[in-house]
Amino acid sequence: MKNILVTGGCGFIGSVFVRYILEESGFTGRIINLDKLTYAGNPENLLNFEELYKDRYIFVHEDICKKDALDKVFSNYNIDTVCHFAAESHVDRSIVSPEAFIETNINGTFNLLEASRKRLDKIKLFHHVSTDEVFGSLGAEGYFTETTPYSPNSPYSASKAGSDHLVRAYSETYGLPVTVSNCSNNYGPYQFPEKLIPLMIINAMEDKPLPIYGDGANIRDWLYVADHCRAIWQIMNNGEKGETYNVGGKCEKRNLEVVETICSLMDEAFPSKSGKSKKDLITFVKDRPGHDKRYAIDCTKIENSLGWHPVESFESGIKATIEWYLENQTWVDRIKSGEYLKWIDGHYNM
Ligand code: NAD
Ligand code: TYD
Repeated sequence: MKNILVTGGCGFIGSVFVRYILEESGFTGRIINLDKLTYAGNPENLLNFEELYKDRYIFVHEDICKKDALDKVFSNYNIDTVCHFAAESHVDRSIVSPEAFIETNINGTFNLLEASRKRLDKIKLFHHVSTDEVFGSLGAEGYFTETTPYSPNSPYSASKAGSDHLVRAYSETYGLPVTVSNCSNNYGPYQFPEKLIPLMIINAMEDKPLPIYGDGANIRDWLYVADHCRAIWQIMNNGEKGETYNVGGKCEKRNLEVVETICSLMDEAFPSKSGKSKKDLITFVKDRPGHDKRYAIDCTKIENSLGWHPVESFESGIKATIEWYLENQTWVDRIKSGEYLKWIDGHYNM
């Protein structure tokens, strides 16, 4: 691997991945970060990286839905490896406006696969970053394994399922060397405050209501983002071509429990002036349509075959996450005001 095309590297997980690769992994090649900079893409997540990592980090402001642009990027930068994060990623948005999800997640992935197929002799690996939501919803018992049938319930998870199938088909039909990871819910620094954990932290900072869908009994399996990035890098280096790997935190929690934990930690770290507990801000709201009840990952395969294990506990991970949001008020403010969206091709358009 010399020239890795990372798509969606200005998003939450993509930016943590790029930082991990350049700062910690020992990789000596080049990262080409291709990102459309939708509302979820924030160049401030990798501030100054072009100066810090001259020649080793290149940002390309592009859209994976543009086929010709992709061909140019593949040949200009001699791409030999793809790590594909770019996606529309929020379930609630997919319920309100599904079209962008079909465009980016299905057609965009198709375009990337086609660009890779045209250079089949040069591509060493196409790693596709996917989600456990493709498996649908679990009852009280059982876990998702790599052989669990797909049963997506939201436009988001259906579009990710479609992209997973295309990746598999390109491996089987054209011999494209692929790996796929299906990961559980991530949390940590740089997550856009539309997802449960950062939304609750930021609302709690401002003493705003903390909206919990339904009765708050839905369960997610939480994984600290750095653990996910290590898993992806392990798979890219040592995974078997054509295989999929489930990645999870072995950390099932009810939504209400997650929010109550955030409230307790915020009561210590950022108490309300009124003296009231942040728990008083919890507000039960109308449930999400098609709300999956429970996700839980069996990650035996990646543990046994690649020796990967989640290392961050929820207790330490959620503390670190809260500290990060409290210490990065400017990042938060610029997201809330929309300032971060003014970045155009190498400079801020103020
Ligand atoms: P995110 O929404 O924070 O970031 C997505 C990034 O993709 C943004 O930088 C955005 O600008 C970019 N993007 C969107 N459309 C694009 C397009 N057409 N062309 C180029 N770039 C485009 O997402 P995330 O939470 O970091 O998720 C990254 C990947 O990981 C996604 O594929 C998601 O399905 C998957 N995943 C996420 C989680 C999670 O908990 N967040 C869990 C498992 C898997
Ligand atoms: P989210 O972070 O959107 O991730 P996903 O839907 O992909 O799992 O939501 C996590 C859980 O939290 C999910 O069960 C929906 C719930 N939720 C709320 O209760 N309130 C909220 O404001 C949000 C954004 C999510």
